[in-house]
Amino acid sequence: MTVLRNARGRYVSGSRLAAGLCLTRAAIHKQVVRLREWGYDITGTNRKGYRLENSPQALDTDRFRAASLGRPICHFPSLGSTQDELKERALAGAPQGTLVLADEQTSGRGRMGRRWLSPRGGLWFSLLLRPAIPPAQVPALALVAALDWAMVLRRATGLPACVKWPNDVWIDNRKVAGILTEMSSEMDRVHWVVLGVGVNINNPSPRGMTPPAASLREMTGKPFYRQALLEDWLKRFAGSLRRYQRDGFSAFRRDCEECLSMKGRTVVCETAQGTVAGRVEGIDGEGRLLLRTAAGLRRFGEGAIRLKKGDERA
Ligand code: BTN
Repeated sequence: MTVLRNARGRYVSGSRLAAGLCLTRAAIHKQVVRLREWGYDITGTNRKGYRLENSPQALDTDRFRAASLGRPICHFPSLGSTQDELKERALAGAPQGTLVLADEQTSGRGRMGRRWLSPRGGLWFSLLLRPAIPPAQVPALALVAALDWAMVLRRATGLPACVKWPNDVWIDNRKVAGILTEMSSEMDRVHWVVLGVGVNINNPSPRGMTPPAASLREMTGKPFYRQALLEDWLKRFAGSLRRYQRDGFSAFRRDCEECLSMKGRTVVCETAQGTVAGRVEGIDGEGRLLLRTAAGLRRFGEGAIRLKKGDERA
């Protein structure tokens, strides 16, 4: 990898790589296949050899400084969970925009106490927010973050990424990204929000999940550049955060309804109060799910939805 990186965009022949690393050319080819699986974009031709086009692990922290709400990112090769690392920094007074990113997480976690598998190749990060909003408005901010990811992924892949309430991003009925928010607040004031984002990009997605997961690479057959995706999202989200603090969720309602998955479908919504079935009508001006149930139209501010048996067609 170092040889390719040092070549700074020039081709390096397979035999030179093989000689330098004391490997056969076939072994070099195998390594290149592996690197591509991790998301390195390497061009290979019989005549010229190999050239590194894009490295998914290379993150240019200065470019992020501008994007990440004016703050640099803290980039780790490996962490237990970016949430824990950032929470400690939040408690120690770190400013809004502090971002912790890990190439892999060994104890990544998802919503409802689930594990979140985070091997290399994916994008696993947490962003610190100190928003000027009441605590009750924090859940819908995660929905806005998911909406921004759906837009970024649509643009990058050309696939119909959509928001799955309350804060996932799905493509073709498979979960590509998930968001976890943890916060500290008083009755009427938020101290901090740690917004954790996991996007399956170049990594193999975990098997046997409900709902099924997929990475962008698995869906398109090509690797994606993590930095470009993250930068794009951070720029969008910086604008969305300002707008959300000013105008609330109603400013995002239309866009969110337009790219909402399961709209018009019959779902089961599991909440802390119990399970309710109904047809998804949309989202209200506060980011709550609107369900047409046997007892009329109901609004849900929290919960998890899945298609009801018998309405599982794509
Ligand atoms: C979910 O869909 O359940 C939310 C998944 C959130 C995963 C991200 S990865 C970065 C951050 N660190 C964690 O431990 N979890 C979040």
